[in-house]
Amino acid sequence: MSAPPARERFLEQLRLTVAEGTLGKLTLGKPRNEGAGPRNLHVRPVALKSGAHLSFVWRHADRDVTKNHPHAEALVELERLIGRDFLDAHLFAADVSAQLECRPDGTARLRTMRGTGPAAPVDAGHDRAKHHAVPADARWLRELGVTNAQGRPREGMADKLRQVQRFAELLTPLIDEAFPPEARPEGTPPLRLIDAGSGKGYLTFALAEVLGARARITGIELRPALVELCNRVARDCSLEDRLGFVAGGIKEVPASGCDGLIALHACDTATDDALALGVGAGARLLVVAPCCQKELRPQLTPAPVLAPALRHGIFAERHAEFATDALRVLLLEWAGYRSRAFEFVSGEHTAKNLMIAAVKAREPGDPDRAQAVRELAAFYGVKHHALAGRLELDLAPKP
Ligand SMILES: C[S@@+](CC[C@H](N)C(=O)[O-])C[C@H]1O[C@@H](n2cnc3c(N)ncnc32)[C@H](O)[C@@H]1O
Repeated sequence: MSAPPARERFLEQLRLTVAEGTLGKLTLGKPRNEGAGPRNLHVRPVALKSGAHLSFVWRHADRDVTKNHPHAEALVELERLIGRDFLDAHLFAADVSAQLECRPDGTARLRTMRGTGPAAPVDAGHDRAKHHAVPADARWLRELGVTNAQGRPREGMADKLRQVQRFAELLTPLIDEAFPPEARPEGTPPLRLIDAGSGKGYLTFALAEVLGARARITGIELRPALVELCNRVARDCSLEDRLGFVAGGIKEVPASGCDGLIALHACDTATDDALALGVGAGARLLVVAPCCQKELRPQLTPAPVLAPALRHGIFAERHAEFATDALRVLLLEWAGYRSRAFEFVSGEHTAKNLMIAAVKAREPGDPDRAQAVRELAAFYGVKHHALAGRLELDLAPKP
């Protein structure tokens, strides 16, 4: 597999240093449009009462403007800016510095310095693997058949490993945002997390690895054989204090007292079942990466202007995915969650790379937000959406 392009490698380095807490500072320069806007952006980590943030200082010709963002939000914003609004980016971390120079024609060059050594390109392969928060040589990865004895991904498992590493790395700042460390002094019981549709447990184990004693994670999985396998590997790797697996359907398993709900590629409406389980349990944090959005496809009766385009299957499929996930985000907003949607891993690792992250922020039931859900549903002709049904929001237009 060829190495990802320079910009993507730079962004991965940035996410990694933020996840590991080793970022010193990041500067963006060379604005694409040299008008009256900011000339530079300086970013550095700050510890606020509400948790770890990145402080953005926007440098204009005549003033500085400062704004602090939680990590996940900051990374989404930086991804939007780097190589787009700003052509140069320079990252300084504990053991690495990286300089990205983008050209207006879309090409880019990346130079990386590790420690005090000479400049060298970042290796997209094994050299970086050892820096991941989920190390590729972890015993449980071997026991679950993801890696071989040398800590290298087995045939066909490299993309899965990368997805799980990215999901777990992104979860650390989201957990800090939802459960600020200063609000959880020593002696606070571990967070109770659920991994819904845990499959072979890759993500469940990765979270246990990354979160350590901060969390106790329960995987819920329909297939008893996988549950048995995962519980055995947890015991063999002495991780049974941190994680366990339960056989059953997401809808059936009791979740009261759950602090956070996570689901990676729970197929079709199983993602809705997972979100509804978390909302019903009062979980503060919900993080899902949906897949196989089939439910709405037969219902789509879009505005006449879209009809000729949607006769093409691929456009209909993408609209169905968009409508499904956009309605999920709006429904979570209505249910009282501050919600975001972003790509959590490069598209070369999986096309199913959308992540929805939601943190409980307010009381549920805002009528304007209910209206936004209904209007989007009506636009696409959607009458049933599994999450709306589970949360008991009637999609029928209201006068
Ligand atoms: C695509 S796999 C993803 C597994 C795992 N999260 C991962 O990313 O490696 C989806 C898993 O969800 C399980 N699943 C689907 N619907 C479920 C339900 N309603 N309740 C529990 N598990 C379910 C399936 O058996 C399958 O193992």
